[in-house]
Amino acid sequence: MPDAPSDTVLSASPAPVRAGGELFTEERSADVVAASLAGTPDPRLRQVLTSLVHHLHAFVKDVEPTEAEWGVAIDFLTRTGQMCSDVRQEFILLSDVLGVSMLVETINHRTGGTSTESTVLGPFHMVESPERELGDDINLDGKGTPCLVSGHVTGPEGEPLAGAVVDVWQTNEDGFYDVQQPGIQPQGNLRGLFTTDGEGRFWFRSVVPRYYPIPDDGPVGQLLAATGRHPNRPAHLHFIVAAPGYRPVTTHVFVADSPYLDSDAVFGVKDSLVRDVPEVDDPARAAEAGLPNPFRTLTFDLSLLREEQTPPTARPVDVQPTVVKGVPS
Ligand SMILES: [Fe+2]
Repeated sequence: MPDAPSDTVLSASPAPVRAGGELFTEERSADVVAASLAGTPDPRLRQVLTSLVHHLHAFVKDVEPTEAEWGVAIDFLTRTGQMCSDVRQEFILLSDVLGVSMLVETINHRTGGTSTESTVLGPFHMVESPERELGDDINLDGKGTPCLVSGHVTGPEGEPLAGAVVDVWQTNEDGFYDVQQPGIQPQGNLRGLFTTDGEGRFWFRSVVPRYYPIPDDGPVGQLLAATGRHPNRPAHLHFIVAAPGYRPVTTHVFVADSPYLDSDAVFGVKDSLVRDVPEVDDPARAAEAGLPNPFRTLTFDLSLLREEQTPPTARPVDVQPTVVKGVPS
């Protein structure tokens, strides 16, 4: 084979003239990739992806992962996806334990202190709650510490909301929801769909819920273990409250003496949602409530904004509807 002409071997080729497209460099990586998104027709998608690229590249430049470490990250995300099924959503758990679920939730439901604060829906609102009468006992298997739960639902001026729908669900004394223990707990145990009376009141009999761990037998559990974090959520009752003409609220009420109140694995606790659950030792009141003496009481009043009302601190255009009922999360 003849030798190549020496000038093509020894001297660099001149850079080709490019029409636009800047080549990738470490310094300009985010801008180069972001420029490739400039033609995205949907402006919101363009905004989201452009921001994502800038933050992601900044993260990589901050951390400078080795290729092996990046492989671990890809493997972690792959296993997170593979853990998902009809009854398990590992990506939501990942979002939860990184505080992103709560951040998205909080941004979309700013109250400015004008109504009951919301918190995460959680993964256990998997079935439509059974309709119950005021005063019913939702504790179908008779286990646990009896508790009378009651409250008022009002509008922003304190007007009572008659006919408001109050959807509740909670764990049993062992820290499990009914859907986690089919065949052990009765179906619909510790769930109820109530309607407030003419004065906006609701009340029902239940038990004191218990703290519980989020599912930690998958990649997210490994992440928690690797960072020295526990998987537990403090004891709480879930509420979704809705009334015609008002904005529904999805929230919890937390039991004040529960462990893990200051270290909820999913960051769901807000001060305004914590309530004492005092013991009442009064046979007459117990008889009136239909509970054994002594019993505990939990009072949780809820205030809803009007549908058209914009909370003082909310961005006016992007308020998202709250899931009302029966919708798996
Ligand atoms: Fe929960």
